[in-house]
Amino acid sequence: MRGKKNIQLKNLELTTAGAKGVAIGRTEEGKTVLVSHAIPGDVVDVQVVKSKKNYYEANVLDFLHYSPDRVKPRCMHFGICGGCKWQNLSYEKQLEYKEKEVYDNIKRIGKIDGFLELPIYPSREQYNYRNKMEFSFSGSRWLTFEEIRSGKEIKDKEALGFHIPQQWNKVLDLKECFLQKEPSNKIRNSVKEFALEQDMEFYDFKEQKGFLRTLMIRSNSKNELLILVQFFREDERQIKKLLSFIQERFPEVKTIVYAVNPKGNDSIYDLDIRIFSGEGFLMEEIEGLKFKIGAKSFFQTNYEQAVKLYEITRDFAELKGDETVYDLYTGTGTIAQFVSKKAKSVIGVEAVPEAVIAAKENAEYNNIRNCRFYCGDMKDIFTDEFILENGHPDVIITDPPRDGMHKNVVKTILRIAPEKVVYVSCNSSTQARDLELMKEKYRVVKVQAVDMFPQTHHVESVALLKLR
Ligand SMILES: C[S@@+](CC[C@H](N)C(=O)[O-])C[C@H]1O[C@@H](n2cnc3c(N)ncnc32)[C@H](O)[C@@H]1O
Repeated sequence: MRGKKNIQLKNLELTTAGAKGVAIGRTEEGKTVLVSHAIPGDVVDVQVVKSKKNYYEANVLDFLHYSPDRVKPRCMHFGICGGCKWQNLSYEKQLEYKEKEVYDNIKRIGKIDGFLELPIYPSREQYNYRNKMEFSFSGSRWLTFEEIRSGKEIKDKEALGFHIPQQWNKVLDLKECFLQKEPSNKIRNSVKEFALEQDMEFYDFKEQKGFLRTLMIRSNSKNELLILVQFFREDERQIKKLLSFIQERFPEVKTIVYAVNPKGNDSIYDLDIRIFSGEGFLMEEIEGLKFKIGAKSFFQTNYEQAVKLYEITRDFAELKGDETVYDLYTGTGTIAQFVSKKAKSVIGVEAVPEAVIAAKENAEYNNIRNCRFYCGDMKDIFTDEFILENGHPDVIITDPPRDGMHKNVVKTILRIAPEKVVYVSCNSSTQARDLELMKEKYRVVKVQAVDMFPQTHHVESVALLKLR
């Protein structure tokens, strides 16, 4: 049926996956249709919800045929929780579509061809791979249609879990999650139960009141645990009650920290983190290097894959030992320290002051003398004067956030023209955009996709660029 605004498409075969994990089909006229909540191989009737010049966005009305690549999702919350949208797609196919996305983006957006497309590096752990999870408390949980339709009075309104996508004030009450090893579920569920028994108030996002805000569980590769609880207000007796409960019930927790957060948002970067028990941090180790991980520290969430990503990055850099290396967007300086043994010197640059402090502390702790770290917004700090002061780089490693590099940062790289650039990215479309800006001067030699986040559409990629 086709009205001007009401377009339905029948018998649409979804043949591949696109950005953000949507499934893609084509109309008879060849127009692209992006369909959410379906996978390649499904045949569907859809309702168009957005009509653009070159494509439609559509929702499924009916599944006529299910894809042979479907698998049974492991988690009871699949479909509502925004976390693992590809749990219903076989892992082999997840890898295939991720790999395709990375290489297609470089060809299509970057208009670059002729590079070596290395096969995606899969994750050994397809579940339980995350070392950090943050759950929100809410006094008004997400209700299912059945609950609302039943007309019954809902008494258990509290939730401890994840925000529903695009519903900032609604939280899914999580019963299980398979992204972090146990005792993650046990801790979250027991904390909720205890808080209810003790009549502790869960946060109200609309009214901005309540007592309990967030619970963060961090682990290291030895599965030692750090817990952070955010409270909305000071209440020494209640805070002690909850944290003592965690300490007594889970003696394996190495350290418990907390923060009082009366702000409108949950971000912890400007909060004072107080130690309740233990040292307030965990230690992580990569190739004998030690990294201190506190509540605020950035650390890659899939440890095993992070090590692989760093190994690929170091291999791509082909260091001999006499090079000056820049590690742009260094975070807590993990890549910088990881490559430092094979370089003359490494300069790390990062915007978050706490991360730079941690990078310096870690380098000191690891007895690394050839790394220096600087703090600032890349586009302001990475200038000709900065390079004059710190030495001309032979190799630049860059690992920007999802938005990619600021165009002035790209311009500076092009102007100073190091022999090699190793571009690590968690968003292959912005990576491809930046590679295009660099292609007159740089040849893309090879690209390696790495799967850091099984069950999601997210994919990491590493590209080696050499001066033409
Ligand atoms: C993808 S992370 C890289 C982390 C690091 N390479 C690692 O593996 O741990 C991107 C980093 O860029 C930093 N960042 C974001 N915008 C920045 C900017 N404009 N200038 C400098 N650093 C920035 C973030 O704080 C974050 O630490």
